[in-house]
Amino acid sequence: MEYVEIRGGKPLAGRVEIQGSKNAVLPMLAGCILHAGISRISHCPRIRDVFDTMELLEILGCQVWWEGDCLAVDASGVKSWQIPIQIASRMRSSILFLGALLGRMGRASLPYPGGCVLGARPVDMHLQAMEQMGARLEEKEGRIEAEAGALFGREITLRFPSVGATENVILAAVRGKGVTVIRNAAREPEIEELCRFFREKGADISCLTDGSIRILGGRELKDSRHELTADRIVAGTYLLAAAVTGGRVTLGRMPGQHMAAVLRILQQMGIYMEWQGADLRLDCRAKRKNIELLETEPYPGFPTDLQSPMMTLLAVTEGESRIRENIFDARFKTAAQLQKMGARIQVRGREARIQGVPRLKGSWVEAQELRGAAALFLAGLNADGITQIRNCQYIHRGYENICGNLRSLGADIRAVE
Ligand code: EPZ
Repeated sequence: MEYVEIRGGKPLAGRVEIQGSKNAVLPMLAGCILHAGISRISHCPRIRDVFDTMELLEILGCQVWWEGDCLAVDASGVKSWQIPIQIASRMRSSILFLGALLGRMGRASLPYPGGCVLGARPVDMHLQAMEQMGARLEEKEGRIEAEAGALFGREITLRFPSVGATENVILAAVRGKGVTVIRNAAREPEIEELCRFFREKGADISCLTDGSIRILGGRELKDSRHELTADRIVAGTYLLAAAVTGGRVTLGRMPGQHMAAVLRILQQMGIYMEWQGADLRLDCRAKRKNIELLETEPYPGFPTDLQSPMMTLLAVTEGESRIRENIFDARFKTAAQLQKMGARIQVRGREARIQGVPRLKGSWVEAQELRGAAALFLAGLNADGITQIRNCQYIHRGYENICGNLRSLGADIRAVE
């Protein structure tokens, strides 16, 4: 199995372009099947979650191909509504095919989704919303079997602004009959982008002043080309990589408008940032300040997906910092790996207390999920000596060419088969 070896301690320097957003493109790829024609998404990242979704689209009967950095999906030949377990077990986002397949085929059969293990991660809100819209759902041999002669617009109130449940309702509502209003909808930029993607295809979707989303279903969809926004979590990861090495880095194509909470925290810590158009220049050589309490929150709060990489930075920032994880109930697994590298972290329930040390020490560590793997890469870049990160396949789910990019910034990093 592949592992990644990093000889740490080199301040990063240079420039990196931020890839297109994983969490924006995955619901769009599910959405492609709602249109019996061609959808193009440019600036699409070449990452494992995208490759897995391409495979799934082909199984359903789509033709999928690359045109440079643009991914094209022709969904005129969709003929199946069955999602195989092999693919669903790899990706949480396979659940989004529930709304999309009901919208296109009136049927869907799929296993409960896999993906990063961050705690319980139920899908009850997705299922309840589909039932409210008229689908009949049954569980048979561990699979969700869903059927709907037609889906009907309804007012759906989510008990928590779940990103995936909001996306699933949008997908189901686009081809449904009448008006759907999603109350307490998630406000993540990826949701806004999914709405834009469908508007470009001719759908009638608007965001109401109170943050609800209104969809008038049944509009005829047309071929489209969507320019994907850059990935705010990948951008944040490179930002933190620069910080953890005390480097000077320019990040190109920065989605700064979606990163206010992250940039605010890093500024508070003493990281110097300067905008030049869409480029963000960082100078991380000054001594950093600790953060008394950092809490993860739904957007526009600090994103849970950057919580683990942020923990690495706080682990090497003098003084005591605390992190409270409010979104997932088991997203501190990386703390134990960081402890192996000399980090002083105490986890109690949803709170981690971090006492900064001057520098981490190289060690064997094991990645357990995508963003935790990114946090270990950052730890390796900081550490004295050699860090070997096992189970590195996770990182490829969300980061395009991360070893190459870090190497181009001067890191001593190599993937070993
Ligand atoms: C999306 O996951 C992202 N994944 C996650 O990114 C991200 O961490 C998360 O949103 C929060 O921002 C994709 O976009 C593919 P949720 P999702 O539904 O949709 C609970 C990454 O690293 N909940 O907003 O699964 C749930 O258990 C990934 O890129 C229910 O209780 O997140 C969690 O506690 C990891 N019932 C909370 O809501 C439900 O039916 C938020 O989950 C649905 C969710």
